[in-house]
Amino acid sequence: MSDYELQRIEPAEARPLRRALLHPALPLAAVDYEADSHPAALHIGAFKDGVLVGVATVHPQPMPSGTQTGAWRIRDIAVEHGHRGRGVGAWMLQRCLEHASATADQVAWCLARVGAYGFFERLGFHRAGGPINDPEEGPQYLLSVELGPVERSWAI
Ligand SMILES: CC(C)(COP(=O)(O)OP(=O)(O)OC[C@H]1O[C@@H](n2cnc3c(N)ncnc32)[C@H](O)[C@@H]1OP(=O)(O)O)[C@@H](O)C(=O)NCCC(=O)NCCS
Repeated sequence: MSDYELQRIEPAEARPLRRALLHPALPLAAVDYEADSHPAALHIGAFKDGVLVGVATVHPQPMPSGTQTGAWRIRDIAVEHGHRGRGVGAWMLQRCLEHASATADQVAWCLARVGAYGFFERLGFHRAGGPINDPEEGPQYLLSVELGPVERSWAI
């Protein structure tokens, strides 16, 4: 049985880990996104022994320059250093995709750091083009995946 548990959390619970693991140079207020309070948004927390060790968010948002209307953005998925490589990130990502797939919408997307591309690729994401240079985040890829039944089951 897994040592980890996934739970829906409030956006305010996700923000400290978001900042610590993804945006350490920014104030906490900078990771308070308007879309966090979208009524369809889902914020996932991964817990080990009651301690929050991973976060992920998914909410409706059109793809940049996209023509498809129904699209979901995966945002700020991160796992504490000591808990990486155990399937926690994939489990959260899968849960986000399942949430979006329960709608009639067709695509999920994210802006991924170049170093995290392989992680997203394993759950079916593909690149829409070359790296985009974000002055704050560095080079990123726009990645997307068709929504539908999630083919791979992640057990941790
Ligand atoms: C990216 C991140 C969320 C992955 O979480 P994780 O719990 O370590 O990932 P998992 O253990 O679920 O890995 C699932 C699979 O992806 C692979 N993987 C994980 N991180 C990877 C990476 N950076 N590059 C390539 N593959 C990666 C794993 O090897 C595993 O593959 P396998 O099934 O063949 O063994 C985590 O490393 C992290 O928090 N990184 C810093 C924040 C970050 O960059 N987030 C992404 C925002 S763009």
